[in-house]
Amino acid sequence: MTNTMWGGRFAASPAEIMEEINASIDFDKRLWRHDLAASKAHVAMLAATGIIDKAEADKIVHGLDQILAEMEAGKFKFSRKLEDIHLNVEHRLTELIGPVAGKLHTARSRNDQVATDFKLYVRDEIASIMDGLAALQLSLATKALAHAGSVMPGFTHLQTAQPITFGHHLLAYVEMFGRDRGRFACAAKRLNESPLGSAALAGTSFPIDRDMTAKALGFSGPTANSLDAVSDRDFALETLAAASIAAMHLSRLAEEIVLWTSPQFGFARLSDAYSTGSSIMPQKRNPDAAELVRAKTGRIAGAFQALLMVMKGLPLAYAKDMQEDKEPVFDALDALKLGIAAMTGMVDDLEPDLRAMKRAAASGYATATDLADWLVIKLGLPFREAHKVTGRIVALAEAKGCELKKLSLADFQAVEKRIGEEAYAVLDVASAVKSRKSHGGTAPANVRREAKRWIKRLEKQGQSR
Ligand code: ARG
Repeated sequence: MTNTMWGGRFAASPAEIMEEINASIDFDKRLWRHDLAASKAHVAMLAATGIIDKAEADKIVHGLDQILAEMEAGKFKFSRKLEDIHLNVEHRLTELIGPVAGKLHTARSRNDQVATDFKLYVRDEIASIMDGLAALQLSLATKALAHAGSVMPGFTHLQTAQPITFGHHLLAYVEMFGRDRGRFACAAKRLNESPLGSAALAGTSFPIDRDMTAKALGFSGPTANSLDAVSDRDFALETLAAASIAAMHLSRLAEEIVLWTSPQFGFARLSDAYSTGSSIMPQKRNPDAAELVRAKTGRIAGAFQALLMVMKGLPLAYAKDMQEDKEPVFDALDALKLGIAAMTGMVDDLEPDLRAMKRAAASGYATATDLADWLVIKLGLPFREAHKVTGRIVALAEAKGCELKKLSLADFQAVEKRIGEEAYAVLDVASAVKSRKSHGGTAPANVRREAKRWIKRLEKQGQSR
């Protein structure tokens, strides 16, 4: 029966609503592998410290292994009545080995259990995201090496600014994803303390060995404060913060791909494998994958906000609010992995139109700065004066509707009579990029060296795994 006062709107009775809001098994079943690993570490420790006897421990381990096999085979029956992954496992263990199963939960609580499981899960996810980012970097660096000397326009305010190389542009993203990997690595390092043995909130009176379980699970050691350990979700937040920044980077590259592949830019083409057509407009090749990568940033950054708000103002220690930590993390990290993989595919697939890029670089007076620099170097003009002179020359070219290099020497000299024939050389886009040899600049020699350095580093990392 639904409540007569307010039950009209509710199809389910209060008890059913309670199950509906309380159960987390529908999503936390993902933690099964980590939950079983943590339980095995715990039971081994209980036996080693004499808290339970060896024969009992063997039975429990055997039962846990059987559950593992059932999970792996997809045969485990999850039940909502049993609320979450921890109780589902414990219930099944009891079915399999009888009341001795109850000894597994000695000196442990679901509070330290879930914190441990979730940390193990996030740690694995970080590792796979870092691998994905490294693969993306390798794709970008490989393409950058092939295009170390390919000229394209560089933009500021999305207005043609100065010529750059396509390789330099791609390497900018290699740097960004490198910093992302650094952020994930830091998060993984800080994460790596074991909450197991903190019990419900205060620790336990059993003579447990927290170092032993920490070591078994690959943690650097146990957490220092039991209250903090069961109520800390910083590791998830840090990971989501790193994920949000990485997703933001992906969205910028995705946006560039959307721009480059548009007929208006025409700088690059994605093959059929990464394009979709329109059901009504036959001419269209839509960069859907890039658009979706761009859009995924919303849910990833949203997940960070969601968890931050869940944690805000929570008193110590564990509160059920914290069960709401998992879905945003699962969703965001799934989306990020998918986005990285799709982006890697697109980068490999992307075919630049070098002629269109070069043509665009040569238009829009992209070498005006080079002319100004030339006036400084050759004629000794102060840069501000050179800027003014060049501005007048650009205005003249604009009035004539031509490129800078199509102006006659007389045109140049009408503005500044000391300009000679040799000024034409700096108006060439290829020589413009070549001249920008400063550290971190776009010169093809720099780009080649940087691309090789990255490729070497990334390949070495790949081998070390
Ligand atoms: N499913 C719970 C969660 O995800 C596990 C911890 C429950 N602890 C408790 N005392 N009710 O947070």
